[in-house]
Amino acid sequence: MVGDQGSFLRALSGETVRPSPMWMMRQAGRYLPEYRAVRAKAGGFLDLCFTPELATEVTLQPIRRFGFDAAILFSDILVIPWALGQPLKFVEGEGPRLEPIDTPAAFEALNEEGFLERLAPVFEAIRRIKAALGPETPLIGFAGAPWTLATYMIAGRGTPDQAPAKALAAQDPALFEAYMQLLSRCVARFLAAQQRAGVDALKIFDSWAGSAAGPLQETAVIAPTAAAMAALRQEAPTTPVIAFPRGVDAGLEAYVAAVRPDGLALGQEKSLSAVRERLASTESAMITLQGALDPALLTGPSEPLSEALTAMARETAEIGPHIFNLGHGITPDASIERVEQMMREWRSAFA
Ligand code: CP3
Repeated sequence: MVGDQGSFLRALSGETVRPSPMWMMRQAGRYLPEYRAVRAKAGGFLDLCFTPELATEVTLQPIRRFGFDAAILFSDILVIPWALGQPLKFVEGEGPRLEPIDTPAAFEALNEEGFLERLAPVFEAIRRIKAALGPETPLIGFAGAPWTLATYMIAGRGTPDQAPAKALAAQDPALFEAYMQLLSRCVARFLAAQQRAGVDALKIFDSWAGSAAGPLQETAVIAPTAAAMAALRQEAPTTPVIAFPRGVDAGLEAYVAAVRPDGLALGQEKSLSAVRERLASTESAMITLQGALDPALLTGPSEPLSEALTAMARETAEIGPHIFNLGHGITPDASIERVEQMMREWRSAFA
């Protein structure tokens, strides 16, 4: 495939490509009327994730409308706990709800056998999306990282401070370690299976990585993600991986040294040039950086967006391999006009 790769895969392999290839986290989502229409037809959010025909359709919607340089599989990080047998539902306007698993007995009831078989509709969606996408648009598969998955599995919902998971790690280190080992293995197995189904790149979302500070950063974020990566690299040695340790500041170098991703995704609180500088003396000096426009700029007037794009074009001139993205997911109140402006102005900044 070398020589025949689109700009996204070239950038992820370490090439400096300008204008940097672009895609958006949550690019298939509620800001799109065509997404809302399919979502209404599907019934529940999980029905949308597990109906290959519908997951394929919504994955393709933002590609058709905007022509992003990469597609991302439509699914959710919480399909892993679901496939382990933890009941999951999405409550309208409130987010995910799971039955909390915070005792050894409840943890023992998780069922890894048949885990990949229960995720078969995801792999079927990948095959359909790959068949429908043009060769110039690669497909990204993904999983949540062990720590972020555990924060939802232990609390049963999203929490502002991840306190229930931190409490369990402090009170029952053996149970927490068992949790991390199970999830490292399942993340690796799920990502490898997505690669076999045909995705071109993978991403590991650790949305709550920044909240695991002190010793917990090593035991909850760095070691479990590195273990998942090591197992994945055995199965899929050439598939590029983007890691998103959102909110990690102190310890970012240690994270990159242990996990060794091909791409490092940053949140909007980070400066691309400052991170490049911090990594300059490490083995990952020229790692591809992904990010990080503030998604709030897609909900307001046009001028602040223009200014931010101009500043970002200037900043990225010197930073080497880069992929354009938002610092977090696009929000339901974002405007399609702003997304169009973002693409137009980003690409013309390099004309
Ligand atoms: O990026 C993409 O377009 C691919 C699809 C994708 C979704 N979720 C679809 C989704 C991806 C990569 C995710 C990742 C995800 N899911 C994360 C990690 C990234 C992040 O945002 O921090 C997390 C923490 C989740 C868990 C999750 N899923 C929450 C907390 C929610 C509810 C929040 C909300 O906006 O309502 C979801 C639901 C969800 N996942 C939606 C979408 C498009 C909205 C659901 C709907 O359509 O009703």
